[in-house]
Amino acid sequence: MKTELTAGGDPGAAYLIRGVRVVGAEPTDLLLTGGVVAEVGRGLAARGARVVDGDGLVALPGLVDLHTHLREPGREDAETVESGSRAAALGGYTAVCAMANTSPVADTAGVVEQVWRLGREAGLVDVQPIGAVTVGLAGEHLAELGAMAESAARVRIFSDDGHCVADPRLMRRALEYVKAFDGVIAQHAEEPRLTEGAQMHEGEVSTRLGLTGWPAVAEEAIIARDVLLAEHVGSRLHVCHLSTAGSVEVLRHAKKRGVRVTAEVTPHHLLLTDERATSYDPVFKVNPPLRTAADVTALREALVEGIVDIVATDHAPHALEDKECEWAYARPGMLGLETALSVLLDVLGERWDLIAERMSRTPARIAGLVEHGRDPAPGVPANLTLVDPAARRTIDPGEQASRSRNTPYAGLTLPGRIVATFLRGEPTVLDGKAVR
Ligand code: DOR
Ligand code: ZN
Repeated sequence: MKTELTAGGDPGAAYLIRGVRVVGAEPTDLLLTGGVVAEVGRGLAARGARVVDGDGLVALPGLVDLHTHLREPGREDAETVESGSRAAALGGYTAVCAMANTSPVADTAGVVEQVWRLGREAGLVDVQPIGAVTVGLAGEHLAELGAMAESAARVRIFSDDGHCVADPRLMRRALEYVKAFDGVIAQHAEEPRLTEGAQMHEGEVSTRLGLTGWPAVAEEAIIARDVLLAEHVGSRLHVCHLSTAGSVEVLRHAKKRGVRVTAEVTPHHLLLTDERATSYDPVFKVNPPLRTAADVTALREALVEGIVDIVATDHAPHALEDKECEWAYARPGMLGLETALSVLLDVLGERWDLIAERMSRTPARIAGLVEHGRDPAPGVPANLTLVDPAARRTIDPGEQASRSRNTPYAGLTLPGRIVATFLRGEPTVLDGKAVR
């Protein structure tokens, strides 16, 4: 791609993207001005707009991540709202939902407003804070859900992610509470009594390595319980990082019954298996753990079929000292924002409409982000990303914009490259580089 500028945004400038493939259509031109897609059509005149050559590129609605750990406040050594926003923009995202397991926990209007404000100041993606379900993620008392919903951050998704809301009575209360403002509870499904001391997926590999296992049923039992609670209450449930074939079957059953449930899968659970643990490299330690090849196959099929609604990264940056240590002491989690689209292209191939649906339109709808997840059309907010599907790149942890280095894809060559990202018509990424 050739643009007239390679770095430094120009606020208020118009952009004309020439000859780009929009999902489901022939190559066309897109004129972005005033924060929206002003015109769509072939042979548009530049009229002073900066011209971006879109030949060979695909325009997707800006990606939306429902599950991002930005670590601020508290662990700014691992990530900040700004560095995580930059990583997101480079990955093609225009909106991310920031998980609540910060320090202090995002369990009050004050903390969610702080994160929301930091996101606005960074200005690279829309940062939508997620509020904690329980005070301090301790699973004992409901947090101030209403105050967070009414705050400037307008929180609609609540999650104790990192921890499961294990108490069924609290889970029921939370589901009841958020119904008033059409909120959603995003559950990290892990029955804690079944995963005490767990280090990896419980199965043949854990037996061979002699590591304590995290059985699939610990996830499936909570999902089964929660879909029944959601049905009973008539409220919205979202299941974080689904990881087993059995979970897919529970979800299939619930959806058939009309339960208001959605679910996400991470790129790493679509690509990697528990065999990686044999390296004892803690970069592969994650929660829920990497599962078997049969689980990976079931998750891929469920994503295509729509039983799993969306892809979410669970981008989980960790400082070196928390990752480069013995497996047993390492924190679980891996980076995801800068590689998600490439992993999905690897897994699904160039199924652009499916990718737009699972990585942009549906997550935007679940989160209630009305400016996002919309295909380029006249009058639509200009939140979009341009992908070069022909490019291949080898992942280098040193080149990640994240403050952390814990990518599980180091050295792997993956298809696709994000060439440009626009947030309300302003470029956040051009020629594959962050503009700020
Ligand atoms: O691997 C994980 N890391 N899973 C989680 O649920 C939390 C996350 C984190 O915050 O690091
Ligand atoms: Zn989680």
